[in-house]
This record gives sequence, C-alpha cells and structure tokens, in this order.
Amino acid sequence: MSARYNLLSLEVKTNPYPIYAEMRREAPVCQVDPGGMWAVSRYADVMYVLKNPQLFSSRGFGVATNPPWLGGNPFSDSMITLDPPQHGRLRTLLSRALGAPAMARLEPRVRFFAEQAMSELPMGQPVDVMPIYSLRIAASVIGEMMGLDPELHSHLKRWADLITGGVTTVRPEEEDRKQLARDAVADLRRYFGELLDRRRSEPKEDMVSDLLRARVDGVALTQDELIAFMALLLVGGIETVVHLLAFSLMMLMDRPELMARLKADRSLIPAFIEEVLRYEPPAQTAPRLTTEEVELGGVRLPKGAPVLALLGSASHDDAYVPNGDRFDMDRPGPHNMPFGHGPHFCMGAQLARMEGRLALETFLNKVGRLERGPEPMTWHRTLVVRGPGSLPLVLHPA
Ligand code: HEM
Repeated sequence: MSARYNLLSLEVKTNPYPIYAEMRREAPVCQVDPGGMWAVSRYADVMYVLKNPQLFSSRGFGVATNPPWLGGNPFSDSMITLDPPQHGRLRTLLSRALGAPAMARLEPRVRFFAEQAMSELPMGQPVDVMPIYSLRIAASVIGEMMGLDPELHSHLKRWADLITGGVTTVRPEEEDRKQLARDAVADLRRYFGELLDRRRSEPKEDMVSDLLRARVDGVALTQDELIAFMALLLVGGIETVVHLLAFSLMMLMDRPELMARLKADRSLIPAFIEEVLRYEPPAQTAPRLTTEEVELGGVRLPKGAPVLALLGSASHDDAYVPNGDRFDMDRPGPHNMPFGHGPHFCMGAQLARMEGRLALETFLNKVGRLERGPEPMTWHRTLVVRGPGSLPLVLHPA
C-alpha cells in the first residue's frame, strides 16, 4: 500500500470489499482518510474493539457527528455515544420500546406500508425505487412507531441524513452545507420538543407517551435524553433499513436465479435477507475513540485516537464465515456482525429483519422480473452507512 485508503472515495463506496481484503492482508490496522482515522479491518480485531468499551469509547460516534461549528447535535448525545455504566441505564429503559411485544404489534402496519409503497411503484417504465419503495417503507415504520404526523415522513430521511452524513462529510469551506445541518438540528429539536409537550398534556398509546411514563429507579428521562433517543431512532431506523431494502432488490436484479428460488419458496426469504445483510452491511463502520494508549493488530494507537471498526470488512472476513466474499444464502445463520456486537448491539435488529422480510414478500407478489434502468445508480457517501442514493430500475409485473 502506498497512499492512505480513502473510505469516502467513489471507488470504496462502489465496491469496498476488494480494498477491505487488501487491508486485512496488508494493513489490518491503519490510518485512512478522511482525517487519519484508524481503520480496523480483521474480524478478530473488530470484535476486540466492540467488546472493550473501556479501551474503545463510543464517544467516537459523538465526536464524529458534533464538530464545533454545529453547536450541538441530539444524535451525538444519544445512547449510541455513551459508555457503560451510563449507557446501560438508558438501554434498559428503551429496550421496551423495541422489544418483542412492540414488534408483534407493529408487524401488520409494516406489511400495510410495504403494500402501500408497492401500489405506487409504476411497472414497465424506469423508476427510482429509493424514494417510493425503500425510503417510504423505512420512514413510515419509524414515523408510525414514534406516532409522528404522516405529513412529516418525507422530512425524516432528510433530517437523518443531515445530522449524520451531512455533518461528517462537510469540508471546512462548505458554509452552505454547514447551515443546512444547523437548520436540520434546530427543526428536529423544535418538532420533537413540541411533540413531547403535546404527549405530556395528552398521552396516547404510542412510543413517545410510553417513554414519558418510563422510569428507572424512579427517575424519568430528561427532555434532552428523550430528544436524543428520538434522533437516534430516526437515524438508526431509516438510514440502515433504506439500504437493506435497496440491496435486496439489487441482488435480485443481478441474480435472477435467486429471484426464481424465492418466488418458488417464500420460506427462503429470511435466509436471503440474512445473507444480504452480511454481504452488503448497510452500517459499514462503528466509530470509537481510544481511552488510553493501546496496541491492536501489532500497531500502537495513541490515547484519543479516532478508530473505525470496519463491520463491512469483518462481515466478509473468512475468519468470520468461509468464502466471505461470496453471496450464499444457504449458509447457516444468523449473522449478527452487521448489527455490531457487545453493549451497543443494534436494538432494532428484529425490526430490520422484519421490514426486510415483509417488504420483499410484498415485492415478490407484485413483480415478476426487474432490470436496471437507463440512468446510472448513485451512491450515498457517508463514513458509517453505505448504500444507493438512487436506484433506477424497470419492474415487470408478476
Ligand atoms: C439493516 C438495518 C440496521 C442495521 C444494519 C443496524 C446496525 C446497527 C449497528 C451496527 C449498531 C451498533 C453501532 C455501534 O456499536 O456503535 C446499531 C445500534 C443501534 N441501532 Fe441499529 N441497525 C439497523 C436497524 C435499526 C432499526 C430499524 C432501529 C430502530 C428502529 C435501530 C436502532 C438502533 C439503536 C437504538 C442502536 C443503539 C444501541 C445502543 O447504543 O445500545 N437499528 N445498529
């Protein structure tokens, strides 16, 4: 390797896996662009980082998403940026909101949103499936969970983008983009703050009212903690699921034989979704910050070093699964690496898998064949999430 790898380059976003394989072979812990962060690519090292929050603090997430020019970001204060023991208190409280009973209640609504999105997808002509299918489903589900006004669903992805990727990819001279991010933070704080006030005076049977009622050792969440959690759900639940749904369709487009198998036997859908998640993990990295000087993969990292645990690379490492660079829906699962590991293991994994399954079932009921559209697809470029920005396809009815 001569120059630093740039994880935001188009080459890496388009197909990071050959580069990850080279990193695992030649430079398993190395500094990358942007900003000289330390990328960790081998499965065993990624697991070590995730399992040892006392050495690799999740404050790294907060630092990356709250630069001084932003003046605060609720996402950067959310539980995903906290370490034990503070993190555990919030996690216990919030796990109810995403537990099995809540998911069972949500399932018919997820199916409804998937059917609604499919009914709006035109057949036989080019269509960008990102806004109408992937985003519509992911945003409607989160909006429904939080009890948000449906009118607002179209803003959710924009806010989620602006307070994460919109912050981490801004160059120093890009004043317009900085202002957009500051406006998004202000809008989101105002809207969520007003929603909390409304539910305080008039509680409903929804998640926000549940959160307002919740207590740990008699203590309620503060207004800032509540807004931070809502910002986290917005980002966690939309940015990732959007790409899971898109990658499922891309796989079917590239591999028509898989589409035929799934159409013939719908019970294979969960295994297919599981392998899409592993093969194309929407969350590619988990940012951390070293709390002291630490040695990893034979490299000495200074205290305060920003670290990126490459979940995308670990998920492809042969030390994790045999022939990790091959898509094989018959491999035994589940594969949890794409949802992280340790104290911050994704709280929405069950919901994400359900959305993937129901969206695909609905898609297969309506679509017989799909092909690439005439326009090239584009890539969404952020440090944490990878997936299509636009995905033009032509769908043909079943
Ligand atoms: C394909 C979909 C998804 C993927 C790939 C994914 C991935 C991840 C990963 C890798 C983490 C750990 C980050 C870290 O260790 O720093 C995480 C945390 C989290 N995810 Fe997800 N996620 C997905 C969907 C969702 C959904 C649908 C929700 C909720 C509606 C959600 C809520 C959360 C929350 C609340 C956390 C923080 C947990 C904590 O800090 O203890 N995620 N997710």
